[in-house]
Amino acid sequence: MATNNNNHVTNFKKQDNISIIIVPFPAQGHLNQLLQLSCLISSHNFPVHYIGFSIHNRQAKVRANGLDPLELSRIHFHDIPPPEFASPLPNPNASMKFPEHLQPSWDATLALRGPVAEILQEIASNSRKIILVHDPLMAYVIQDAQNIPNAETYIFNCIPAFTVSLSRWEEKGKPSMIDDEITKNLPSWEGCLTEEMFKFAIKQVEHCNFQAGEIFNSSRLIDGVYLDLMAREELSGTRKIWAIGPILPVKISNQEPVRKHYCLEWLGKQPENSVIYVAFGTMTSVSEEEVSELAIGLEQSKQRFIWVLRDADKGNIFDKDVRKIELPEGFEERVQDYGIIVRDWAPQLEILAHKSTGGFMSHCGWNSCIESFTMGVPIAAWPMHSDQAMNTVYITQVLKVGLVAREWAQREEPVEAGAIAKNVQRLMESPEGDEIRKKAEELGDALRKSIDEGGVARMESDSFIAHITK
Ligand SMILES: *[C@@H]1O[C@H](CO)[C@@H](O)[C@H](O)[C@H]1NC(C)=O
Ligand SMILES: *[C@@H]1O[C@H](CO)[C@@H](O)[C@H](O)[C@H]1NC(C)=O
Repeated sequence: MATNNNNHVTNFKKQDNISIIIVPFPAQGHLNQLLQLSCLISSHNFPVHYIGFSIHNRQAKVRANGLDPLELSRIHFHDIPPPEFASPLPNPNASMKFPEHLQPSWDATLALRGPVAEILQEIASNSRKIILVHDPLMAYVIQDAQNIPNAETYIFNCIPAFTVSLSRWEEKGKPSMIDDEITKNLPSWEGCLTEEMFKFAIKQVEHCNFQAGEIFNSSRLIDGVYLDLMAREELSGTRKIWAIGPILPVKISNQEPVRKHYCLEWLGKQPENSVIYVAFGTMTSVSEEEVSELAIGLEQSKQRFIWVLRDADKGNIFDKDVRKIELPEGFEERVQDYGIIVRDWAPQLEILAHKSTGGFMSHCGWNSCIESFTMGVPIAAWPMHSDQAMNTVYITQVLKVGLVAREWAQREEPVEAGAIAKNVQRLMESPEGDEIRKKAEELGDALRKSIDEGGVARMESDSFIAHITK
């Protein structure tokens, strides 16, 4: 068997011989959340096995955000050699923003079924019980866990209960009443995913019918109504539901890192709440025209900014052949007194935690949302694909901690600098923006408290741990 850590399989007797197996989906946000979960569970003294293609395990490790190397070293990584898959450049001109170029790397994961089944068998035969936690997009791969008598399986959702519960409710033909105005103006999933991704997802759903529970990286504080909806029998049968987020290194703002990224040095010299942070995650590619309109829009807004300008990840992030994104002629010189461009990996959490940061223009991927909520930063939403259109409704209409910078409904129309400038100003210097910022700050305070002893996030993760220890 192709794993680098076989020797660990039998030499533990901790936690009454219960082994945890984690199977992540290889997109950055998902890899990271499941790695963080691995460390959380491992801190309770369980042996934790993280299974994936070697290249994706390496990606998860090199980008591990705020994780202690010692904690990481306790995780048993099973590095499966990947089959060959195409790793093309993203297409910045595509009419749909969904990262279609990553599909070959995702289709390749289907080949993990055999190796995963073998590892599960082997660990199960050496353990009293195995707890398998997997991304819903890896359900096909873990399907053989059904035949292992001492295996219990759980889904880990990397998107909010709002989005999962309401989508599932729609899918099931609205089986019960929901007393919630919001259901009237939800975007459909149309245009959020490619045809190929729909097919891939449907293949997974077939194997999502035997799990004992579902975990959300979300909080009862924000997602309570939708976690309750999720727990209704018509949506989840007898499954148990937990919301164990956020578990960020929330004390981050009090620490002085040894080596500061230059953008943090710069932030330190800006007035409080004066900077808008602009970043669209690791799975979005913007076209030349969009870059140019965004640049002009930021310049016209006259607001201070940090803009992370990177192309979407390729299927193989270690292949350094990437597109250099060009900015309009003279732009960088013109804005040098109030804006900076980051082309490498930005310390997003530290930026959001910084008191000079007063807004976040975001694609509304769930990782970015959680980080922004927890740090109390209001969002200017520019949804690009996947769950982001739904998340935008959640942020702007339910939680009211952000405004829309770019309407999802207008996604096929050209981006206009003027509209960007106007929305950036609305967020950064208007009474409306101040109101939203106040709400975001209150939410951040509450979320950070929820992680303390006795707080709701801590109670939920303790409850999950107690449940699997039974
Ligand atoms: C939840 O998401 C946040 C934001 O990405 C991440 O920092 C945290 O570690 C995640 N928690 C888990 C359990 O994955
Ligand atoms: C995208 O379109 C621009 C023109 O708008 C063109 O210069 C560029 O080569 C195209 N890029 C790709 C990858 O097709």
